[in-house]
Amino acid sequence: MTDPLLQVEDLSISFPSANGPVRIVDGVSFSVGREVVALVGESGSGKSMTGRAIMGLLPSRAKVAAVRLSFDRQDLTALPEKGWDSLRGSGMGLILQDPKYSLNPAHRIGRQVEEALLLHTKLSAAERRERALDMLDKVGLPDVSRIYSSYPAALSGGMGQRVMIAAMLINRPKLLIADEPTSALDRGLQDQILTLLRSLSEELGMGLLLISHDLQQVSRYADRVMVMRRGKIDEQMVSADLANAKSDYTRALWAARPSAATYGTRLPVYGEQP
Ligand SMILES: Nc1ncnc2c1ncn2[C@@H]1O[C@H](COP(=O)(O)OP(=O)(O)O)[C@@H](O)[C@H]1O
Ligand SMILES: [Mg+2]
Repeated sequence: MTDPLLQVEDLSISFPSANGPVRIVDGVSFSVGREVVALVGESGSGKSMTGRAIMGLLPSRAKVAAVRLSFDRQDLTALPEKGWDSLRGSGMGLILQDPKYSLNPAHRIGRQVEEALLLHTKLSAAERRERALDMLDKVGLPDVSRIYSSYPAALSGGMGQRVMIAAMLINRPKLLIADEPTSALDRGLQDQILTLLRSLSEELGMGLLLISHDLQQVSRYADRVMVMRRGKIDEQMVSADLANAKSDYTRALWAARPSAATYGTRLPVYGEQP
């Protein structure tokens, strides 16, 4: 058996507070191969901090401990800052919720899509442009040479998110971490983007860690799901087994199906008093 791409063993993260350190991720273990794995759980359960720890992007106040944190056989617990820079530019990519905060309004799309190539490869300007146009096309954008020379303000939210995906994938990362990648988009676009991420991960042989609060939605795109609650992984299973989940928490998340009637209203939060 080949090693998984990402191995996380007994990861804990805490923040200092007036009453001593507060543990927000507590003994989390999992691995991700060239597959789509969803990390789900209600807001505040520790999903984003887990994703940031894997990318080396935690706030400096955070204290991290892990028995093992390795990516592509590299030990991340001992990686110097330079190693992180090259890993983030070539091995791993991160997509966040809202393209408005990820794209720089002052720079043309082309330059932003090409940035990883500029920093981490020796490709010529013409080669970079060609790769960028090709990637913009792959993520389903129309009229790519016009988009290439446009500024972010000219794009809709859905187009902006596609541009972000293109920028993250252009240097062929082995693993993409997508943290609530569609939460800022309307429902129809969400499905389009998730379908796109799923098919690109298959096409490029890339691992995908899909972080979301919406178990119902992401389980349709993931091979496996890991359910996180209060800093721990409560249950892990293949998506097909979700209907038979053992944990009450997973069952509650699974039952919280957004329907036409509840869409746009707040869904019940497990353990919350009404
Ligand atoms: N900078 C910080 N300092 C202290 N606590 C934080 C900080 N950022 C997040 N937290 C806490 O960490 C917990 C987990 O946050 P997060 O990983 O963002 O949750 P999720 O992504 O699952 O919604 C939350 O309870 C949050 O309040
Ligand atoms: Mg989050």
